[in-house]
Amino acid sequence: MKRDIIAGNWKMNKTQEETKALIKEIVPLVKDANCEVVLCVPYTNLEVARKAMRGTKMQLGAQNVHWAPKGAFTGEVSAEMLKELKVKYVIIGHSERRQYFGETDMSVNARTKAALEAGLKAIVCVGETLEQREAGETNRVLAEQIEKGLAGLTKKDLKNIVIAYEPVWAIGTGKTATAEDANETIGVMRKGIIRQMFGKYAANSLRIQYGGSMNAKNAKELMAMPEIDGGLIGGASLKAEDFAVIVNYDK
Ligand code: PGA
Repeated sequence: MKRDIIAGNWKMNKTQEETKALIKEIVPLVKDANCEVVLCVPYTNLEVARKAMRGTKMQLGAQNVHWAPKGAFTGEVSAEMLKELKVKYVIIGHSERRQYFGETDMSVNARTKAALEAGLKAIVCVGETLEQREAGETNRVLAEQIEKGLAGLTKKDLKNIVIAYEPVWAIGTGKTATAEDANETIGVMRKGIIRQMFGKYAANSLRIQYGGSMNAKNAKELMAMPEIDGGLIGGASLKAEDFAVIVNYDK
């Protein structure tokens, strides 16, 4: 049985003090969650977040990882460094990284491999732009991102991967894909390219999240969809009560 996974993507928000305060608020509100709960915080907050989450079932996540084990890569952080901080999950290929920092399917692939080799779990993000959607290219774009982003990985690797389907036009915009649309698109990915690459069993076992303006109001409806196994939450993960409502979608 796969377990739904709700991950907060804090992006570049919160100081250490604010991190402690927010997690302190979140902890009691999510303690009875049935899903897996992950907080992906900025690198500088990993240590305080780990301490603030101690004794809870929440998991610690980062928002990126470099592909090399070490070396002359100014400003980057390796998988081993994240492991040392007890990080369990790492977001890879978020559309903001693709859009502003030149992330490509190739670099997503290299980062994902490095994360898995180090024993981290990867949340690999894919999603189409508004232009691509309007041109009817959504399914082709997603298949290409997955084919290249997960190239060379095995069925076994897939157990440590979560895919986040985040339509770029829905991120931070207040526009959500309708639950039906998101469900259908995820279904096409799962039954198409993912099954083709990894087989039916692995494809069915893979957890695929929806992300993009998922919030306290729409989470229940999105999570009720059979193909949607979780959420990657940006803005709403910065408010304890909203995040808790999302995490407790099944209550
Ligand atoms: P949002 O962000 O929930 O603020 O739209 C989601 C994400 O970018 O992961």
